[in-house]
Amino acid sequence: MGQLLSALFPKTLNVRGEEHGDGPCAPKVGLRGAQDTAPSVSSPFVCKATGPYLNFFVDRADYCRDVISDVLTLGDRYGSSETGAGRRVIVEYSSPNIAKPFHIGHLRSTVIGSSIARIMDFLGYEVLRLNHLGDYGTQFGKLIVAYRRFGNREEVEAAPIETLNKYYVEFHERAESDPSLEEEARAAFAALERGDEEELALWKWFRDESLKEFTVVYDMMGVSFDSFDGESFFSDKMERFTDELESAGLLETSDGAQIVDLDPYGLGKALIKKSDGSTLYITRDIAAAVYRKEHYGFYKNIYVVATQQNLHFRQWIKILELMGYEWASDCVHVAFGLVLGDDGGPMKTRDGKAVLLTDVLNQAISKTKEIILEKGVVTDNVDAAAAQIGIGAVVFQDLHNNRIKDYVFNWDKVLNFDGETGPYVQYGHARAASVLRKAEEQGLDVSGNALLSAEDYSAAVSDAAFDLAKLIGALPDAVKEAGEKYEPSILTRHVTDVAQAFSAFYHDEPILPLSGDARTVKLSLTSATKQAIKNGLKLLGVSAPERM
Ligand code: ARG
Repeated sequence: MGQLLSALFPKTLNVRGEEHGDGPCAPKVGLRGAQDTAPSVSSPFVCKATGPYLNFFVDRADYCRDVISDVLTLGDRYGSSETGAGRRVIVEYSSPNIAKPFHIGHLRSTVIGSSIARIMDFLGYEVLRLNHLGDYGTQFGKLIVAYRRFGNREEVEAAPIETLNKYYVEFHERAESDPSLEEEARAAFAALERGDEEELALWKWFRDESLKEFTVVYDMMGVSFDSFDGESFFSDKMERFTDELESAGLLETSDGAQIVDLDPYGLGKALIKKSDGSTLYITRDIAAAVYRKEHYGFYKNIYVVATQQNLHFRQWIKILELMGYEWASDCVHVAFGLVLGDDGGPMKTRDGKAVLLTDVLNQAISKTKEIILEKGVVTDNVDAAAAQIGIGAVVFQDLHNNRIKDYVFNWDKVLNFDGETGPYVQYGHARAASVLRKAEEQGLDVSGNALLSAEDYSAAVSDAAFDLAKLIGALPDAVKEAGEKYEPSILTRHVTDVAQAFSAFYHDEPILPLSGDARTVKLSLTSATKQAIKNGLKLLGVSAPERM
């Protein structure tokens, strides 16, 4: 019954507590956290039959006590569950292309994917985080030739991606007047495919240097991976699939190339092997999915990749299905929209180039530092605070809207301390921390046990307190829903609601001037708020500062 109730009314349990009906509902509302431990107290819910209706009433004080007790008992585990126990989920995200700028478009895959991985982990799934690096293709033949002809080792080492990308552009410029370059590049790529020592070493070096740069960004964002096996890893594992496609009668020859005709499914024709025999992005994805199933096993294999690749994903998942891999439907493309500039077009720098992710993060930090200094925010380490708040703001903004929607990146909006932003929610956490710190300075015990010592929770029945407790109590449902829909924005909005409700509670009601149970109860609600915001932010990959 309680579980049903919490499912039906996760947020809107606004029945009043004054009325009492036919008696307590049993069993008690499910514990909003990890284990289903035995109920310690009687139910806060009362049900009453009125004609054809069954009305539920909640005792506000009991409800608040239950929620607060769950949160303070479970701490960092509050909101987690065992839903996914025994099931492995693969989350592939970020997957940038080596020797190419890591731009703002990759931000979304990185941030959304990392959050989904955290959420699934919190829901009890065993999560494998994969980065399917774009580290293979004929372009590496060109890069090898460019480097041999006019490259310089020190220059690459000083700024790997920028330099390699510059060489690549220059290769094309030179190739216009000197077509022999293209031929040389094809030969270099063929050598790379054969595994010739020199070509392989150069390619590996490009990859390592690029990865070093990516890692700087990942570290800044607190993002990690279990594997960086990307496209190159599958380059020698493809024979089998062209054979399988062949014997399944799916492969057709068209202009010397091999294709799968997906017209009957409205998906066009998929090019599997080029006329020169080289394999393609899509073939590597087919090989990668089968490899994942055979080597890791999975309940779901999730790909966090932009909507521009919708057709690509629909094609290869369909091909797997036609090949008879019945788990094809467990491969899920979690798509997302674009990051736009103020003019509504794709976000660009002033000189029309793609905006680099490191530049965005560094700018976020320096802009936040200015705001912190201007506002006189109290902190013992301005730079650390600026990094926590600035990067948190960018991440939070990216996760704020439904992922499928495009969004306009606007600095004033991202860093607005009063809007529905990362800094606003972090500020709620820091406010709660500050109240608890002051209480401690006054000699009060704010540890979980002491905060749960109140007998009488009637101090928590005001509208503001009850609204806050309801939102905190609904966090576990928000986590579940976010996981089911692969939609971190559900959580982003939920923690924003909690922070707003805390702000109303905090402004309306005194806490520290009180005494006895009234003070204990309000402090415990403050502590539960702090914990709920912290847990929610953690799942989004945003830190929760103690001071702000
Ligand atoms: N490297 C690709 C890009 O930057 C994204 C890879 C997506 N993942 C995949 N399995 N196809 O566009």
